[in-house]
Amino acid sequence: MSRMEDGPLTRADDERIERLVRSMTWDEKLAQMQVVFRPDPAELERWVRAGAGAIFWPRSAAAVNELQRVAIEQTRLGIPLLVGLDVIHGQRTIAPTPLAMAASFDPDIVERTARLAALEAASGGVNWTFSPMIDVSRDPRWGRAVESFGEDPYLNAALGAAMIRGYQGDNLHDPGSIAATAKHFAGYGHAEGGRDYNTADMSEHRLRNVYLEPFRAATSAGVAAVMAAFNTIGGKPVHAHRRLLTGVLKDEWGMRGVIVGDADGVANLVPHGVAADLLDAVRQSVQAGLDIEMGGNLTDDGGHAVLAPGDLPADRVDDAVRRILTLKSRLGLFDRPYVPEGAEITEPTRHARALVRAAAIRSTVLLKNDGTLPVTLNGRVLLTGPYATSTDHLGAWTQSFAAPAGSIAAELIGRHPQVTFTIEPGAGFYDDDPADLRAVETAAASHDLVLVFAGEPSHLSGEAASRSDLRLPGRQEELIRAVAATGVPFVVVLVNGRPLVTSGWIDAAPAVLEAWHLGTEAPAAIVDVLTGAAEPAGRLPMSFPRSTGQVPIYYSHEATGRPATRGGTMRQETIDIGLAGPDNVTEKYTSKYLDLELGPQFDFGHGGGYTTFRHANARLSADRLSCAALDSGARVEVSVDVSNTGGRDGDEVVQLYVRDLVSSVAQPVRRMVAFARRHVAAGQTITVSFKLGTEQLGFWDVDANPARFVVEPGTFALYIGSSLHATHELAFEVG
Ligand code: GLC
Repeated sequence: MSRMEDGPLTRADDERIERLVRSMTWDEKLAQMQVVFRPDPAELERWVRAGAGAIFWPRSAAAVNELQRVAIEQTRLGIPLLVGLDVIHGQRTIAPTPLAMAASFDPDIVERTARLAALEAASGGVNWTFSPMIDVSRDPRWGRAVESFGEDPYLNAALGAAMIRGYQGDNLHDPGSIAATAKHFAGYGHAEGGRDYNTADMSEHRLRNVYLEPFRAATSAGVAAVMAAFNTIGGKPVHAHRRLLTGVLKDEWGMRGVIVGDADGVANLVPHGVAADLLDAVRQSVQAGLDIEMGGNLTDDGGHAVLAPGDLPADRVDDAVRRILTLKSRLGLFDRPYVPEGAEITEPTRHARALVRAAAIRSTVLLKNDGTLPVTLNGRVLLTGPYATSTDHLGAWTQSFAAPAGSIAAELIGRHPQVTFTIEPGAGFYDDDPADLRAVETAAASHDLVLVFAGEPSHLSGEAASRSDLRLPGRQEELIRAVAATGVPFVVVLVNGRPLVTSGWIDAAPAVLEAWHLGTEAPAAIVDVLTGAAEPAGRLPMSFPRSTGQVPIYYSHEATGRPATRGGTMRQETIDIGLAGPDNVTEKYTSKYLDLELGPQFDFGHGGGYTTFRHANARLSADRLSCAALDSGARVEVSVDVSNTGGRDGDEVVQLYVRDLVSSVAQPVRRMVAFARRHVAAGQTITVSFKLGTEQLGFWDVDANPARFVVEPGTFALYIGSSLHATHELAFEVG
């Protein structure tokens, strides 16, 4: 049972909704089916007076109350407003980006930071956020990967549901709760070439088993709204895709909330070439199942509908209005439309800062470490790279009113006054930035340690920010190589939105910390981890490619009919195909690149901390279950003992992967079905256990009509461990 189903809707609520639907005019119904953004306050007020059902946040509790008063006192029916905003990873106090928080593999911290964001946003009158973004992202060229929880459907599903719980709380009525929106439904992350807004075409098999799964979980978690994606699937733009919007979301999954369009997504049907004009676009999208159009294209600013009754099915319009009014009822807007202006939170509290600092620490990932980390800061330390002094830590999708971050240099200097710090930027973010590598080389020679802070500025990821080259921008790679050549001990800290190609320098770096864009408390968290006051224990939520040419690359790939066991060579290979039968396929004729080693630079799930762990005694409570037992809900338990064998406490992230060895369709070589982040004291041993049943073993069979979730009999390989390949393998039989 999803939370939305058991919301506090009363008979009186239902009666009010039906009374309103019966009494609303055609113009009032279509006006209600819009969320409008108008930066000019007078223009926005005009839209509200004309009956718009929803607006973008007007930037303060007072402004919200003023516009709610117009909606309630100066319109015929006095229907209160939905007030929406992109509260993606914080409102005033900024948490790490969603991709960074995905690295924490910690649903609890995701839920708590979402709750904080909701409390801050709701205090200002926001009652609806366009978040979480749960588009599976397997192409780091796509800038919006930073808004997602990465390449894995299960990680997106688990963390998306956690974010929804955080935003919506136990009850949408609660003053600190806001309606969540799962977006962008669906397949947006599959954009060809990683180019934003591009075609995303895929098989039904992949759509069902990869891109829809996080949205199915979000629907089960009771998400209040779902946002349609900009892209086409199978040539049909999602904003006009009735089979997906109505057939799957509403009919098959029973989603009772609202489907909202993306910004001008309806109007975009015209350049897509599927609508002759805006009226045709509106007609197609509403008929497909869209309930709220984002842009204000259903009426003019006087509230006059652009389509006449009869141009749209009346029952479809009534269904949309009913859904909107139901959401407003569940939010308590009819009873409590105004917010206490004196309670508006405009600055981070100490608690808020502590929470996002903890989230930032838990999101850091140790890519490699020869023991240089954690550093002991004394003597003379050289700080170089653009992120030594940059304060651009908030990441994509933060608004101008967010609490800023300081710089890492200032944090270091402030916390370690006994150390002599020298700052020599060396290079900027852009090719034409001034660069002085010589100055860095000279300075390094007289210092005990060099800390290189490299990365991407926030605006190079997020919406409309795809990159064709995934290396560090500007001359930062040269800078790192120049530092390496000095022979002075050094550490690289990456501050970036998306996975990067590091092959140009990674082998020369003794220790590399992935620090992402960590939000308002980024510098404090980074210094905590660098100095060992805290440990990095995150895991990569997306693979880091060896080269851009390797993209898309993701761990849960099919084996192919010719899996390679090693990388290729550019030299001519001698081929001995003397043997008959399957053995005659030499290594040459296998799936790989001639100019690249196999696999990514760093795998999904890669990471570690400052202590060491041993996994032992991997075991199953039963090594077989019948299909009938599975169907009846039977599950087995998979367990492993985890010992902290290092000298300090630490967190371990245990992951469970499955592989269906023989199936009616080619299955991924690994598929994560469970994970758990656990704190283990030095010298302590704990047991970590997971349940294994239909949900973990099954897949969507799209050859069935309708598609059905099935578990096929046969042997499954189970992999339990601390990363994709550091696992114990167990065999499990179904049937
Ligand atoms: C943008 C984004 C969407 C966002 C919306 C409102 O274009 O695609 O994620 O919620 O517009 O800002």
